[in-house]
Amino acid sequence: MYDSYNRKIQYLRVSVTDRCNFRCAYCMPAQGVKMLSHDEILSYEEFLRIIRILSNHGVKKIRLTGGEPLVRKGIIPFIRDIAALQAITDISMTTNGSLLAAMAEKLKAAGLTRVNISLDTINPKQFRQITRGGDLAQTLQGIEAALAVGLTPVKLNIVLTNMITEQDIAYFVDFIHREPVSVRFIEYMPIGESATGPGPSIEEIKTMINSFGRGKLKPTIDICGNGPAKYYDLPQAKGSFGFITPISEHFCGVCNRIRLTADGKFKPCLLSNQEIDVKTALRNGASDDKIAELFYQTIAKKPQGHTLTNPDEPTQFFRRMSQIGG
Ligand code: 5AD
Ligand code: SF4
Repeated sequence: MYDSYNRKIQYLRVSVTDRCNFRCAYCMPAQGVKMLSHDEILSYEEFLRIIRILSNHGVKKIRLTGGEPLVRKGIIPFIRDIAALQAITDISMTTNGSLLAAMAEKLKAAGLTRVNISLDTINPKQFRQITRGGDLAQTLQGIEAALAVGLTPVKLNIVLTNMITEQDIAYFVDFIHREPVSVRFIEYMPIGESATGPGPSIEEIKTMINSFGRGKLKPTIDICGNGPAKYYDLPQAKGSFGFITPISEHFCGVCNRIRLTADGKFKPCLLSNQEIDVKTALRNGASDDKIAELFYQTIAKKPQGHTLTNPDEPTQFFRRMSQIGG
């Protein structure tokens, strides 16, 4: 299925919960966000029905997000059910990794293909500060477990904030030499206010990486996912670096995804307030064809690009990142 700008849509991001055991400073206010009630959130049966229908209309790849997807009970059987759908070839997850160590093996066995893990700094104190209470050791154990059970390629997400230091970059340079991971730096997107200051630019990060005497960054191809990151490697590294630049160089032209929120709304674009209510239709007994029609409507509404950097178009967002799933 192609949208109005000839982008092939075969990727659905499903936010299974708005809850999270972290409160990352760039994602949520310190007091958290008002949580959805049990009834407002789609059941796994409802999610599965939507995914099944969409898989008959070109969706091949599913990413589970949150909040934190691993805090929702029953995620493992849910993954097993998605994996049983013929047309679905890839099931990935974006997680903060804190609960991953104990669950990695079961997730893999259920049919999860791979994980992206947020790791904004490797300094335990700064980590606690940025996540407002997170334990770095647990997330590192989660990363190890993901590698050990083969939830690969493992990708790490680092939002560029003022918490990042040269020690972090040195650690990541070392890490991609030891493990086949992709370490991705993401420009902060101003959705809601952030409690962290602006971090280094992508160019500054690249300069730092090049300064450690391990060779210079060289552009390479995406290992898996065809996402928005631009990848680079170092001469002796097993892994790679990725740079995701929604602000300095937006990638809307290759955007291949639709989002489904925990409260049952399709979103054509992360950075737009447009939503298409699928929950009401679902709960009023809509046919499969009707649900598919709502999906097509969503695709038709996919904007050509976001307007975050256009000063003439101030954007007030209805949702925080944790209510969309990144
Ligand atoms: N800007 C950029 N990335 C963000 N994420 C969350 N909030 C923001 C933001 N404001 C990313 C985190 C996490 C994923 C769920 O979304 O890196 O990995
Ligand atoms: Fe939770 Fe992820 Fe948001 Fe951090 S970025 S608060 S881990 S949802």
